[in-house]
Amino acid sequence: MQSRLSGFYKQSPAERVQTLQEEAGLDAPIGAITEESLARASAEMISENVIGTISYPVSVATNFRVDGVDRLVPMAIEETSVVAAASLGAKLARECGGFETTTTGPYMIAQIQVTDIDAPHHAATAIRGATDELIARANEQDPVLVEHGGGCEDIEVRTLSTREGPMVVVHLLVDVQDAMGGNAVNTMAEAVAPQIADLTGGDIGLRILSNLADSRLVRARCRVPPAALDRSETDLTGPQIRDRIVEAWAFATADPYRAVTHNKGIMNGIDAVTTATMNDWRAIEAGAHGYAATGGITGGDGYGPLTAYEVADNGDLLATIELPVQIGTVGGATQTHPAAEQALAVLDVDSADELARVLGAVGLAQNLAGLRALVSEGIQRGHMKLHAENVAVQAGAPPELVEEIAAQLVAEDSVRQDRAEELLAEYDVK
Ligand code: MEV
Repeated sequence: MQSRLSGFYKQSPAERVQTLQEEAGLDAPIGAITEESLARASAEMISENVIGTISYPVSVATNFRVDGVDRLVPMAIEETSVVAAASLGAKLARECGGFETTTTGPYMIAQIQVTDIDAPHHAATAIRGATDELIARANEQDPVLVEHGGGCEDIEVRTLSTREGPMVVVHLLVDVQDAMGGNAVNTMAEAVAPQIADLTGGDIGLRILSNLADSRLVRARCRVPPAALDRSETDLTGPQIRDRIVEAWAFATADPYRAVTHNKGIMNGIDAVTTATMNDWRAIEAGAHGYAATGGITGGDGYGPLTAYEVADNGDLLATIELPVQIGTVGGATQTHPAAEQALAVLDVDSADELARVLGAVGLAQNLAGLRALVSEGIQRGHMKLHAENVAVQAGAPPELVEEIAAQLVAEDSVRQDRAEELLAEYDVK
């Protein structure tokens, strides 16, 4: 498999499918992604009161090299420029070998809330004393997970002071292996709760996972020589763009209004891969922003960015990302939805851990390319071609004229419907 597919963006969708199968060495047929792949019958197995399905464009981002392996990355997203930016960011990182990643392991947290506690520290100590029994009870719930090397490995006990009085919160730390893990850990939390009630004499409240999955982190990094950042269209040199990227990041470290948008750009890419693989993007979003609220990568006060930009001794731009990624390659819709299966085949990942690493790389590539555009020509120019095509269609251009009219609108720097209508009138097709 190789992810550097020259001219891929110029091909038709059908040609791209062909390229993926031939040049990218993809064995599995990938028709399902490009078709209406989910019959109503199976949609009914995924959700309730189903009346149909909805489609997103599914694209493939190129140029990714993650831990020395080329990856083609399927992305399902409705927003213009995201896939192009991810591919560009990956190309910049590729100059110095691509992305290097690490993960902390697939540990999810399940919380058990205990209320009506008079002596929380006494209760907490009782729970800690029963750690082995609680872990054993939790693991009885999922022998298959345990057989595959996963399962509950530890518990943590916290005491909280709340407006409703003191509470004890028990965390189960569960290695969920290749699953997103929500069902597994929720079942465990419910199973151990009665024992915790007996140990503490308190009342059991919630028994549910935490999406602040800070024991399930991915970290990715790459370096980019300043020459690669050069934008010939602008007056800025590569080193100037590099320094402006670092400044843009510093802005995000100091201002939550900026940091949220900075992180939104990162999540553009991560959500698109999450959607293509039919994972729970809400969990990943919640986890990412929750992690950012604890300071993000810098661990500073308040909400912060999930990436960092620094300059190496030799002048290279050093880019780093860190965020929780609750992603699975087994279970849920990842296996019941045919398009998800196909997306995983394109990614060619063997485990949720590998997929998490790709997601880290995608988030970083997305942010890198976005910042590079923002500090130089701005992002609107990149949006213009597709936007102009939309304007041409809205003005009534027939398919054979859309590209031509759009190109003219861009060339005139007047991407407006009234101008598109004038141009169309000249063709006498309105
Ligand atoms: C747009 O969807 C994402 C950006 O706003 C991200 C950013 O500002 O860094 C371009």
